[in-house]
Amino acid sequence: MGPGRKPVLAGNWKMFKTGAEAAAFARELRPRVSMIHDAEIVVCPPFTALSAALQALTGSNVQVGAQDVYWEAEGAFTGEVSAPMLKEAGCRWVIVGHSERRQLFGETDEAVARKAAAALGAGLSPIVCVGETLAEREAARTLDVVGRQIRTGLGGLSEEQMAGLVVAYEPVWAIGTGKVATPTQAEEVHQAIRSLVREIHGAPAAGALRILYGGSVKAGNVAELMSQPDVDGALVGGASLSAESFAAIVRWRG
Ligand code: 13P
Repeated sequence: MGPGRKPVLAGNWKMFKTGAEAAAFARELRPRVSMIHDAEIVVCPPFTALSAALQALTGSNVQVGAQDVYWEAEGAFTGEVSAPMLKEAGCRWVIVGHSERRQLFGETDEAVARKAAAALGAGLSPIVCVGETLAEREAARTLDVVGRQIRTGLGGLSEEQMAGLVVAYEPVWAIGTGKVATPTQAEEVHQAIRSLVREIHGAPAAGALRILYGGSVKAGNVAELMSQPDVDGALVGGASLSAESFAAIVRWRG
């Protein structure tokens, strides 16, 4: 964690939890994290559970985000949800370019760029995800791949827009596998992302950018990851589905 950067601990529920389950989770989580003021806490339910989560978290220190967004504000785009719609619903955040969207739904770097810009335009903070596959890591292409994702995804944004987003580095081989990147592996890529952002957007934008790590984060490994100078938070999948384990992650300082 670097100086002056407020950590972000975000839970990506993926396609889990109904509205009733989201409300129950929120009731359990609230008291467990109400004393935390030095980190931003975010949960990202499926679209159908956003309103229940928002309602149950009203007046709490837990913010709500969506898991995807479309870049047009409205129109004939069956099945899609726009950034102004998410904003109006009460969301503060939205995940963009998750590797599951890239791999299973064909999302490109160009689509990620449009989604991030649309989210920012509506006043949402995008959590822009990047990360290499196992084959890419084994071929020593990690920094190339992540570099391309950052250049295309964020290269067109202004310095001011950069202040409104966070990046999540999620190595695909660490997602849902129990195989967490070592703190050194995470730090190496986080540092490379920050240097690239410095090159593109300048030192102030790079210094302020929060870069989260994601991939098999748990209560037992979060502190070590957070001790790295360029790891400013976590994007948590499986371990964010129980209020108890997510609260333990949010309270990583002990
Ligand atoms: P896991 O924490 O289940 O590995 O998932 C990580 C992730 O994809 C968060 O977006």
